[in-house]
Amino acid sequence: MVHTIEVSGLRKRYGDVQAVDGVTFAVEEGEFFGILGPNGAGKTTTLEIIEGLRRADEGDLTVLGLPPWPRNSKLLPRIGVQLQASSFFERLTAREQLRTFGSLYGVPAKKADAMLELVGLDDKADTRVEKLSGGQAQRLSIACALVHDPELVFLDEPTAALDPQARRNLWDVLRSINTDGRTIVLTTHYMDEAEILCDRVAIMDSGRILRLGPPAVLVRGLAAPARISVASGVLAVEDARLLPGADEADDDGVSLTISTRDPSAVVAAMAAKDALTGVQIRGATLEDVFLELTGREYRA
Ligand SMILES: Nc1ncnc2c1ncn2[C@@H]1O[C@H](COP(=O)(O)OP(=O)(O)O)[C@@H](O)[C@H]1O
Ligand SMILES: [Mg+2]
Repeated sequence: MVHTIEVSGLRKRYGDVQAVDGVTFAVEEGEFFGILGPNGAGKTTTLEIIEGLRRADEGDLTVLGLPPWPRNSKLLPRIGVQLQASSFFERLTAREQLRTFGSLYGVPAKKADAMLELVGLDDKADTRVEKLSGGQAQRLSIACALVHDPELVFLDEPTAALDPQARRNLWDVLRSINTDGRTIVLTTHYMDEAEILCDRVAIMDSGRILRLGPPAVLVRGLAAPARISVASGVLAVEDARLLPGADEADDDGVSLTISTRDPSAVVAAMAAKDALTGVQIRGATLEDVFLELTGREYRA
């Protein structure tokens, strides 16, 4: 069986920096695949090699069954690469941008115009790119990557620097693109984004993949405790530590937080004491996976 992307033993060094240090993974057709890691992890370099924009020092790779380097003209029409918002043509409107990108691939103007609707920019068709908000420009750059109907789409931190509402809007767009049957490879430094969007994520740090799998499986594999928090003061810390099932308790003056591997026992005991004011229960997240793997806090 041919994987949509197959990467094996990839390495790339810039001077003293080993940016990619032996990366191996495969992406299947129709998958929403995420590469998650802090700044400098090697995400962009990995992506650029797969896109055929950079040559690897070492390693084997195929994209849609073909080698991306040297530049493969059979491959280019089949992949979409999200361009940075700054790489638009100057002084063109949103519609003109899309038509221009489309014309490079022989896409008719009408079809290019339809892309504006997909990314929710139909009302900005006549707006010049300089006048678009950050979120709108990001969505336009995604539309440009999709205009020739590629089967495989690469997005490098598409939601970086967007406000929370714009990020959520963009997530909806990305989901619909994936539901249409396209394979998506996305890099992000947002844990929540990877957890929500991706079928599988590769957690990357210092040029290596530390873990790879569906987010829920990675999180479950930790067997990390749940955290139950209530308003500070509803229960004394000493009493909280003695609750059946409680592992640890801490009060920071705002919230009392109890770690437990048996949340139902703890919640039942707290309910019996009428001590559930403002209760929140949080399971482990990808952030905890990163901490477990590297011993350090995840800082994007
Ligand atoms: N063109 C370049 N020249 C020199 N060093 C680079 C270049 N691009 C990236 N790097 C370095 O390689 C490492 C990985 O960078 P990058 O792939 O951009 O990571 P990420 O996208 O995860 O932030 C970083 O240490 C970065 O500073
Ligand atoms: Mg990057």
